Amino acid sequence: MKKEKVLVIGAGGQIGVELVAALRTIYGADNVVASDIRQEAHPMLKDRGPYAVLDATNGAAIREFIVRERITQVYLLAAVLSATGEKDPARAWDINMQSLLQLLDIAVQEKLTKVYWPSSIAVFGPTTPRDNTMQETVIEPRTVYGISKYAGELWCQYYHQRWGLDVRSIRYPGLISWKSAPGGGTTDYAVEIYHEALKNGRYTCFLAEDTYLPMMYMDDAIRGTIELMEAPVEKIQTRMAYNLSAMSFSPAEIAAAIREHIPSFTIDYAPDFRQQIANGWPRSIDDTTARQHWNWKHEFDLARMTADMLKNLSGK
Ligand code: SER
Repeated sequence: MKKEKVLVIGAGGQIGVELVAALRTIYGADNVVASDIRQEAHPMLKDRGPYAVLDATNGAAIREFIVRERITQVYLLAAVLSATGEKDPARAWDINMQSLLQLLDIAVQEKLTKVYWPSSIAVFGPTTPRDNTMQETVIEPRTVYGISKYAGELWCQYYHQRWGLDVRSIRYPGLISWKSAPGGGTTDYAVEIYHEALKNGRYTCFLAEDTYLPMMYMDDAIRGTIELMEAPVEKIQTRMAYNLSAMSFSPAEIAAAIREHIPSFTIDYAPDFRQQIANGWPRSIDDTTARQHWNWKHEFDLARMTADMLKNLSGK
């Protein structure tokens, strides 16, 4: 077992609960501390290893914890996502940036071996070419979430260049999972739709039927994150976040995939403010750079993911 002591900040979120479980199989349960702002641990984090209550924006408390617990690696997952961010931009900027900037300083001063911080396809905007969007292209985000992620990528690159900090990052597409719920994103419909299909046999989608977005099943996202973090340092040749791609579909296409299992399933459409956010994002992503640098490969496509989601959510 590898000798590291890992802290996951924002562990109670959609990515965190699954990432903590995966990290614990690598480093041992006691060597991975899950932390979140919530007093009560997420059910998937309960009684499975150490849990701490930490506010991602409280740099002093985080530094104190890292020193006291001899933490060597940190995954910072706490963030306000795209849709929630638009409701209170100042708060989203504050939480997303303060948490990162303070952690980067702590990481250099306390000599952490590695830091992970997630970015997003939200860094791209309406001036970016929308099909097979490249790693390096026009990047002019229009949501506060996207602005914070792009600024964060630049800061990660800066800390790497200036102080040699080993900080790594991925631009996640929409993430689909059954173990935990997403929180406030534009791609959340692709999770809700499975729950509603099983519960009510119908779903009203907040995006229009032909809105294509890049998506990924959580199993792939967790494996990709760990592979990136485990890759030998010389393979990591960009310190901006890596484009990662698995599939791209529209609400109409995911509905058709669900109908393969639930023939009576129906969908209708009532686009809201999130449509405009989606319209500014890529329809599909080119991830050649990640495939070349550290051998990234996805496993789940829409059909396989749909079968797995429905099986697990229905408890079959
Ligand atoms: N899933 C995220 C969102 O929709 C994208 O990073 O905000």
